[in-house]
Amino acid sequence: MLTEEQNRAFTQVGSGTLMGELLRRYWMPIAAVAELDDAPTKPVRLLGEDLVLYRDQRGTYGLIDRHCPHRRADLSYGFVEECGLRCNYHGWLFDEQGRCLEQPFEEVAHPTARFKDRIRVRAYRVEAKAGLLWAYLGPEPAPLVPTWEPFTWPNGFVQIVFAEIPCNWFQCQENSIDPVHFEWLHSNWSRVLAGRRGPRPPTHLRIAFDEFEYGFRYRRILEGQREDDELWTVGRVCLWPNALFTGTHFEWRVPIDDTRTLSVGWFIHRVPREREPYHQERIPYWYGPIQDPRTGRWITSHIMNQDFVAWMGQGTIADRTQEHLGESDRGIILMRRRLLEEAQRVAAGGEPKGLVRDPEQNRCIRLPIVDRERWLAGYSLAELATAQEPPGRGLYPKEFPFQAGQPEEVRRAYWEAMGLPERAAAPAPQPAAVLTPGGNGAAS
Ligand code: FES
Ligand SMILES: [Fe+2]
Repeated sequence: MLTEEQNRAFTQVGSGTLMGELLRRYWMPIAAVAELDDAPTKPVRLLGEDLVLYRDQRGTYGLIDRHCPHRRADLSYGFVEECGLRCNYHGWLFDEQGRCLEQPFEEVAHPTARFKDRIRVRAYRVEAKAGLLWAYLGPEPAPLVPTWEPFTWPNGFVQIVFAEIPCNWFQCQENSIDPVHFEWLHSNWSRVLAGRRGPRPPTHLRIAFDEFEYGFRYRRILEGQREDDELWTVGRVCLWPNALFTGTHFEWRVPIDDTRTLSVGWFIHRVPREREPYHQERIPYWYGPIQDPRTGRWITSHIMNQDFVAWMGQGTIADRTQEHLGESDRGIILMRRRLLEEAQRVAAGGEPKGLVRDPEQNRCIRLPIVDRERWLAGYSLAELATAQEPPGRGLYPKEFPFQAGQPEEVRRAYWEAMGLPERAAAPAPQPAAVLTPGGNGAAS
């Protein structure tokens, strides 16, 4: 149980707050690269700051103040030029450094005054990596955008999936170090939702947590599982400071502000050997719905939607003065303690853990991955067609199990990448018969 003050320390993300300053030391994914192909500007709210993301005609990315410093027009309605973003109200032009390059009428009226030299807008760094656009709102020198190992894998079909969740980021991230929830929120609840009877999925017998440079590993032993199982010897990753990594997908919980979170999922599915070499021209992205318009209730059919239901159910900002933590929450207690320590280190002028600054090291940062060898070896179409997926370790979900609302064109692109016959569009399925923590292409 926390005090109100402690709860605020974790949940407030604005500039100058304890956690806001810690989170500003890390790059945050805010959009897909392909989004700016569709529209060159995008309004973004990040860590409580209203900004506009754009790509100008030279291909330079910018992330600047949402409001024009002239008379506060919304720059997300501005238009991009060869260099920079121009306000649609009176034509002032800004570049990615936040400089004002032109003020058309001022330059006619006072050609030598150079009023523009006294104008700056807030401007932050943006970098593209792995099909995502990343923003850095912290002090210089900025660290590198981490090159996590799966970003370097060839022959993968990647998709990026967003959802805006109306609750605070921290309750989302606490879910990243909560192995026991899988058994109930996913395995058991899915079984009940589907109206199935029969035995319950295996229960958790042991859990363990270990800290490493880039976060925490969480490990588990389920009923019937041996101690040499990689779910125990390797485990999954609560990735510092605001993500989950399951081996083949990442989920970042990006704070929009104190009461909203952008869920950013990055998923890779390796194509069968017969399809190699496979090169993905464009990484598709989509925004998944969270609410069923027919009932007004949250969608419950997919794994991450079930997580969203749990997070939103905790309230807009979970009231941790009312909780009762038990043995299943040891990871959460550990993460809270370490976050506070690192935030205090930042407040004292120090550097927090997990920043990547060495370009050599950043060529590929390895993380714990269950079934790594199998992933790296690949598999054939014939194996897929004939073999049952090993129980609990499906590399290859037939339907996207993580979030509801996958667009038909992404579904088709996936089937095409896998070299399988096109299938008629089907309504979104209920989750698999029995979800296990290793199943469905590596769930949490
Ligand atoms: S408000 Fe932007 S140029 Fe006037
Ligand atoms: Fe979950």
